[in-house]
Amino acid sequence: MKPTSLFVASLCSLAASAQFNNPLAIPPALDQDTFDLVVDEHVHQFYPGVNTNTFGASAEYLGPTLIFHTGDSARIRVHNELGEMTNMHWHGLHVPGEFDGGPPREVMPGETWDVHYKVMNLAGTYWYHPHPHMMTAEQANKGIAGFIIVRDAEEAALELPRTYGVDDFPIVVQDRRFLTNGNFAFAPLGDSVLVNGTPRPYLQCPAQIVRLRLLNGSNARIYELGFENDQAFTVIASDGGLLNAPVSQNRIRLSNGERDEILLDLTGMEGDSLMLMSYGSELPTTVPGGLNILWEGSALNAIDFPVLRIRVGAPTAGAITSIPSTLGTAIPYDEALATNTRTKVLSGTGMIGFASFYINGHSFEMNVINDTIQLGAMEVWTIVNSSNMAHPFHIHGGSFYVLDRDGAAPPLWEQGAKDVVLMDVGDTVRVIMRFDDYTTDGWPFMYHCHNLFHEDNMMMAQYIVVDPNVAVSATKPLAELRVFPTPTRSTITYTAPFVATELLLMDRLGRIVLRQAGLRSSTGLVDMTSLTSGAYLLVVRSDEREVRTAVVRE
Ligand code: C2O
Ligand code: CU
Ligand code: CU
Repeated sequence: MKPTSLFVASLCSLAASAQFNNPLAIPPALDQDTFDLVVDEHVHQFYPGVNTNTFGASAEYLGPTLIFHTGDSARIRVHNELGEMTNMHWHGLHVPGEFDGGPPREVMPGETWDVHYKVMNLAGTYWYHPHPHMMTAEQANKGIAGFIIVRDAEEAALELPRTYGVDDFPIVVQDRRFLTNGNFAFAPLGDSVLVNGTPRPYLQCPAQIVRLRLLNGSNARIYELGFENDQAFTVIASDGGLLNAPVSQNRIRLSNGERDEILLDLTGMEGDSLMLMSYGSELPTTVPGGLNILWEGSALNAIDFPVLRIRVGAPTAGAITSIPSTLGTAIPYDEALATNTRTKVLSGTGMIGFASFYINGHSFEMNVINDTIQLGAMEVWTIVNSSNMAHPFHIHGGSFYVLDRDGAAPPLWEQGAKDVVLMDVGDTVRVIMRFDDYTTDGWPFMYHCHNLFHEDNMMMAQYIVVDPNVAVSATKPLAELRVFPTPTRSTITYTAPFVATELLLMDRLGRIVLRQAGLRSSTGLVDMTSLTSGAYLLVVRSDEREVRTAVVRE
């Protein structure tokens, strides 16, 4: 059918067995109160003797892994030592607009941007990358990006691999094209694969269950990841943290900016080796990485190619040997409680050498606010792809849940918290998201296509969050407990400004009429259906803190 592709494919797999002898670089993991990220120009040798001009964050290429803890405050000083403007975005984190680091934030050469925010997200794999106006692709292509691993008590209580660099590994997959002078081409698609900046890498893993935190950090390429011989793996987390239960897969389609944490069971395989592949031949022609009818060619399009060799060594002491049957306890938002709906239509046409894509018919304009959202809102967004190409759709400001894909429930691995959703041609996807805690105070949040070339080509829009009760909104973290709706006839959702462990509902006489213990979330549901009408006091606690508010049962 596709003689050229098959020919290249067989060459690739022959080459695969002989090569992949470079030890995978593992960025240092830093767990500290204040992080200094020095963004600078470097020369790095991806291949011995070949100098490549790069950008990095306190590194020649990429940057350190930042370890955050839910409920703590994080402080990051971003020092711009580049000769051009930059900034930094904490992809997936629920932070105030002031520190979100979208295009309105400009950190000039020589400047330091002092960022500090409370870590509100649940345990999971997030990442940072620059987001300057029209220069995101260029700066990310040159190498500025890094992982953020958030840890929390709920995740820590599970028997999961979490020893960084031993049984728990960050894996960012990027494609690049090297020019004959050793530098990177500035192009959407490359023909060499780098993992954590290492070409043809291998990773030494112990013969036990290991955890891979997969991130697609590529400009435009989408990967259809799986292991050779269709060896099954277990997805445990999506963009915004743990799934509620593990999901066994033998493929995962990872679009730009998306993360999936997977467990791979290597028990009893000491001495073996296993290849992580991208099965590009299985991608539709509408997806960058599939057969190139819409975009420039690349030797990697539409073929199956190796990404990372796993070499299995001796197991460690205290190895994880089984997978918990339940994981997170996040409650997907209830559509019945949504306060507003919006529709976002992706349109436009891409072809070789020309592409122009829009959101609701518009290109990004820095001084146009496309959406105004009320603080505390829970919104359903219907995203429709009526263009001729797939787009990874990303919303800043936190996580959402996918309600449905073309009218059907999303696959299980897509049912956790997300911040990027891949929209193939013709797809209609409905997502539900909350806009809690922070008003925008002059610093809007973006939503955009995470194909970096589309993003820089204005396939982006922005929203602000306003508090209807405050004339001039201020960026301040929510100090109190929020409930919605009140009065209610049935269920309320609450949001506390910390991870709660216990919840009480008291009547007017101070009697406890309902108690939920063993919580590990800042948000949840309380069913008041069986209570008599009247006012109640909702008390939400952690070991150190307590907040209360009135709730009315109609
Ligand atoms: Cu990964 Cu607008 O971001
Ligand atoms: Cu983002
Ligand atoms: Cu796009």
